[in-house]
Amino acid sequence: MDPTPRRLFTEAASADVVIESLGSAVTPRTRRILGSLVTHLHAFVKDVQLTDQEWETGIEFLTAAGQKCDAVRQECILLSDVLGVSMLVETINHRAVREATEQTVLGPFHLVVSPERELGADINLTGEGTPCLVTGSVRDMDGRPVPGAAVDVWQSDAKGFYDVQKPGEIPERNLRGLFRTDGQGDFWFRTIVPCHYPIPIDGPVGRLLAAADRHPFRPAHIHFIVEAPGYETVTTHVFDKEDPYLDTDVVFGVKESLIRTFAVTDDEERAVRLGLPNPFREVRFDCVLRPSTRETRAETQP
Ligand code: BEZ
Ligand code: FE
Repeated sequence: MDPTPRRLFTEAASADVVIESLGSAVTPRTRRILGSLVTHLHAFVKDVQLTDQEWETGIEFLTAAGQKCDAVRQECILLSDVLGVSMLVETINHRAVREATEQTVLGPFHLVVSPERELGADINLTGEGTPCLVTGSVRDMDGRPVPGAAVDVWQSDAKGFYDVQKPGEIPERNLRGLFRTDGQGDFWFRTIVPCHYPIPIDGPVGRLLAAADRHPFRPAHIHFIVEAPGYETVTTHVFDKEDPYLDTDVVFGVKESLIRTFAVTDDEERAVRLGLPNPFREVRFDCVLRPSTRETRAETQP
């Protein structure tokens, strides 16, 4: 705490006066973050000439967003998502490097531990939806296979819901799986073709989208987290090239490099061998990991 007398608050010097209130014990990083936040916040209030009523509406909105949060619902992250802040943080911290697989948002529906499944397993526990084969490989930046990489996948069902959104109705761990690449760095599993779905809109973020005249949809996608010892973990999606919401994802998560065709395959022999009806849909998603020095989950698991 700094007891030095300070100049009084004025409209012209508002941000500086608040920044000058920071004590001498503040760390340089906190000073930088708080200083910039106050500078931009004050500039915003001056720019729009915020009224008392609008300030109150904003406070009520933030209060409602906080109150909507619980163990499974994170309205504040959803707010960050629809304002493009989550994707901006993601993009700044994981800038594209050569052919390395690009990152996108994690989203609120990941389970910390997905069920371990054998390569080729069907993660669709309900039998609903259009059967689809997902194949891919995990390689390093020099094209060498990464055997034993953890490939964690999850997606919504044919009606656009994740298991955790409808407990008791959708079987637990439906459309989730944790696979390990084989000796050639390959993985494959059976699932269904994903469909687009709306993010939760029964809270303040839904009201914000309505006020902004924006739709709530995410284009069809399958989530992936790929990790292996000695590499940067990649959190990403594969998107369906045919989806109508590809250009207007409500959370701005689409990257060109992550779009694939979910093609129709007509191959009776493969269908029988893989346990799929013929014809079936198929998508290939190859992941390229960049080297890391940080510890990963795959390293800490047996
Ligand atoms: C998702 O893809 O699961 C998701 C991402 C951000 C917000 C809501 C849902
Ligand atoms: Fe999703």
